[in-house]
Amino acid sequence: MSSPHADVQPVDTRRVDAREKVTGAAVYATDLHPDQLAHAVLATATVGRGRITGLDTAAAEAVPGVLLVLTHLDHLDLQSPGFVMGGGYGVQSLQPLLDEHIAYRGQAVALVVAETLIAATQAAKLVRADYEPEPFAVTLDSPGVERLSQPAVIPLPFLADLDVGDAESAYAAAPVQIDAVYDQPAQHQNPMELIGATVWWRGDTVVVHEGTQNASAIRHGLARQLGIDPANVEVVSPYTGGGFGQKNSLQIHIAPLAVAARRLGRPVKLVVSRTQLFHHTSFRPASRHRIRLGADEHGRMLAALHDVEHQTSRFDLFPMMYTETTARLYGIGDFRGRQTFARMDTQSPGFMRAPFEHPGVFAFESAVDELAYAAQRDPLEFRLANDTTADPVTGEPFSSRHLAQCLRRGAKLFGWSARQWQPASMRADDGSLVGWGVAAGAYPASIVPSAAHLVASADGRIRVGVDGHEMGQGIRSAIALLVAENLGLDVRHVEITVGDTRVATQHLTAGSWGTASTLGAVHAALRELRKQLGADVSGPVDLAAAVGATGREHVESRAETLGPGQTEQDAERARQGLVALAGPEFTGYSTFSWIAHFVEVRVEPTTCRIRVPRVVSVADCGRVASPVTAASQVRGGIVWGIGACLREAGEVDPRYGGWLNASLEEYPVPVNADIGTLDVDFIGEPDLRFHPVGVKGLGEVSMVGVAAAVANAVYHATGVRHRRLPIRIEDVL
Ligand code: MOS
Repeated sequence: MSSPHADVQPVDTRRVDAREKVTGAAVYATDLHPDQLAHAVLATATVGRGRITGLDTAAAEAVPGVLLVLTHLDHLDLQSPGFVMGGGYGVQSLQPLLDEHIAYRGQAVALVVAETLIAATQAAKLVRADYEPEPFAVTLDSPGVERLSQPAVIPLPFLADLDVGDAESAYAAAPVQIDAVYDQPAQHQNPMELIGATVWWRGDTVVVHEGTQNASAIRHGLARQLGIDPANVEVVSPYTGGGFGQKNSLQIHIAPLAVAARRLGRPVKLVVSRTQLFHHTSFRPASRHRIRLGADEHGRMLAALHDVEHQTSRFDLFPMMYTETTARLYGIGDFRGRQTFARMDTQSPGFMRAPFEHPGVFAFESAVDELAYAAQRDPLEFRLANDTTADPVTGEPFSSRHLAQCLRRGAKLFGWSARQWQPASMRADDGSLVGWGVAAGAYPASIVPSAAHLVASADGRIRVGVDGHEMGQGIRSAIALLVAENLGLDVRHVEITVGDTRVATQHLTAGSWGTASTLGAVHAALRELRKQLGADVSGPVDLAAAVGATGREHVESRAETLGPGQTEQDAERARQGLVALAGPEFTGYSTFSWIAHFVEVRVEPTTCRIRVPRVVSVADCGRVASPVTAASQVRGGIVWGIGACLREAGEVDPRYGGWLNASLEEYPVPVNADIGTLDVDFIGEPDLRFHPVGVKGLGEVSMVGVAAAVANAVYHATGVRHRRLPIRIEDVL
């Protein structure tokens, strides 16, 4: 990255909070141990669906140290928070503990609070419920699943069917065709920081510490649930130990914890156990994709039809945006997208890194690979031959699209030219089958209203309070680098507060819009600060001298920014804790981030174990705001993609409901030994049409297409196409 004043390089371009994180100085929400702290544990339902007919808490209450057992018999008087994707604030609209109905296995039936965690755990096990069970459905193929077409039930333009041209006729006329169904399982993100909160009351104000991506939703949602003024809710979330969508709205335990804390007059902490987490919060829904693709004899794609259905709960509709991205990968003139809900009996699904883009693009980029082989083309050349500069959906240009450069640079770094086209034709020295696969990925660029407050001090330091959450992605580093580079400061003189409703609105940080949104506000606030200091519009500023010259101790500036085309209405929505995003379609252009992945797999000949010794990924995310954390984001995305392709599945047993493999022992994710060399590179061209400093999103695009590249490599190694994830040894044997 070039600096406008090259003589003042930031001294430390690593993750600025690295030291706090590795020394344990970073305090996470449930690390807190205030005086008089009481501990909460949930008791959960053991039927797939039904009604509680009897509840016995006497044995639990008799455990020494138990302070409170809250159940629906206590009349908690809580409103529904509404569903975050239905105009509300919650991970789901259903608030447990309010009545006798059980909508899914694992639903909370009691919150037990005790002096110690041990007492609460023991007592929770002694809560006894009797049920009248009811029939339930938990897989896409179960009887009793209710199917609804998305446009029929959610009348929003961006959730409509997608019809560009006449895909059906164009497909029917295409000389080369692929028609295949790709199945992908539910998945559960398992953050290192478990879901949990520490909650207490200070007078009439409830204070919530929870690792979250959306402190404002907690503030406004909890206020709605309790019937209090949002001004009386404080949410503090300086660090989030892994937030990839699961922590992006109000969790179901927070209101009951607030009730318990008020009744006891004490702080209460809950850490949801690893096993309960699988049932307690959102997950990636299972989805099924039928892809039809047609091409001409020259390898030009003519038509695509993408039909998808995904699971949702009985009480919420988790909307689908799969085809929004798959329609943009290539210049296909005729495209049809159809999306259908499959309602069943689990908690509501929700966002998990690249929620639609990963599964949608796995299916689509697998089918593109199949089509390239059907057309007897090299899969890389085939993709390059179908590139486009215009958005095929809107006909407008992309503000930036360097996908072809990503593919070309990645191919060179990977050594693609040495690849033999024929499947099952490459061998390693030990006899393993070698496969090389490629896939592209894309992710819509969105942006949201944001706010920043800068305080420059006469001691040469600057405090930055912003709207944004640090969930591990490195937003502090990106902010610190921008401020340090802009003013010519040492990054160590920049102090940053994020995720705190006391310093700024804390709108949802998700959808890979965090860095672009927050940096936009910080950039605007820096401009204003320079004005107040009488400094030039660019170039280094001697902050201590400039503040000193004003005769004041501090000089402050504030900025509130909107995405392109946004209005005060959007800003107001954000201030109310509601989702307020713009993009990826803007007036005159569309914006997406792009990536290309190249993967080598080796399939050991006797055990058929699949290894991934190396991956090369090249991303176009506009300007790279923080090189070290950006590369780390991409490596993390690759690991997720490998996990999605070869390991992860939320298993259900249709006889019992709920989730069967609810532990990290039985829900395997890749470990270090599963990961080989990950080479990451960036195009690094700022997108100044989309953003004042040229930033697009990165966190999610990094995993989009990885699973397809791995599966395409497995096909190349073995000659067998796998259309159901994960691909396991028994599939390859
Ligand atoms: Mo992310 S899955 O949009 O929080």
